[in-house]
Amino acid sequence: MATEIKVRSYAKINWTLDVLFKREDGYHELRTIYQTVSLYDRLHIARTGGEISVACDDGRVPSDETNLAHRAANRLREATGARYGARIEIEKRIPVAGGLGGGSSNAAAALIGLARLWQVPVGDREMVSLAASLGSDVPFFFLGGTALGIGRGEEVYRLEEVLCPHLLLANPGFEVATTDTYGRLSRLTRPETARIIPFTLLAANGNCALPLSASNDLEEVVLAAYPKVAELKRRLLSLGAQHALMSGSGATVFGVFDNLGACERAQNEMRQAGCWAECARTINRQEYNDTIFE
Ligand code: C5P
Repeated sequence: MATEIKVRSYAKINWTLDVLFKREDGYHELRTIYQTVSLYDRLHIARTGGEISVACDDGRVPSDETNLAHRAANRLREATGARYGARIEIEKRIPVAGGLGGGSSNAAAALIGLARLWQVPVGDREMVSLAASLGSDVPFFFLGGTALGIGRGEEVYRLEEVLCPHLLLANPGFEVATTDTYGRLSRLTRPETARIIPFTLLAANGNCALPLSASNDLEEVVLAAYPKVAELKRRLLSLGAQHALMSGSGATVFGVFDNLGACERAQNEMRQAGCWAECARTINRQEYNDTIFE
């Protein structure tokens, strides 16, 4: 039985994000379309006999018990009575607090990796409810590909896959706290009825099928609070993106390009302007499942 494994922890973007209303539990009721993309962190997980420890090569990520992967490991141990410990080392590539689900993905990857290393008997349902207790985006990473997220985002359903080979992810280099972004929503833009997401608009558009009327209700508040994010979006469009939108609660903005050359040129321009920028592509469920363990 292996005692060490490497797990890929993929990033996500949100093709759409509709905020419907504030719920009694303080969360917001969402309708979102999640998508896994090719950018990933790598978790090196080793089974130990002792405690759980986390280390990360990015100093901005906490390595104490507030780290989401650390919390995930603790919860899994409590839930299953596993007698082992673990050392988790995170190679961080996904911008921190950037709307790409990095922390949530790390938590899911830790759960998936540890369930295998510790060989604990944990059912799918139990695992997903454990994931949901760690964060609204965590259950999505048990599915991957293109998925609908409802509730606070934790209830996920498979959708027909969106294929997009030329994406550019761009981040201004500062963190935006999710709680602050939701807190800045001055008006709720959607009525208290579930809106029908225009799946029919997941129509072929060149070599990328994407929701053409895609929007993100959190974008307006982040763009207003951080003009640099608005500038990033404008730049993506002026560099040839057919479509550009903020992901999740920001501040990462993604652009959809119709060819690799334009995407790479935009990546270089963005980097020269001092931004973090990375070309990426969509990862469907099959590839997600096939490549999560290295
Ligand atoms: O679930 P998660 O811990 O990722 O959420 C972080 C914060 O984002 C919550 O504490 C809440 O303030 C806000 N949030 C929300 N509605 C959601 C998801 C998150 O208000 N559906």
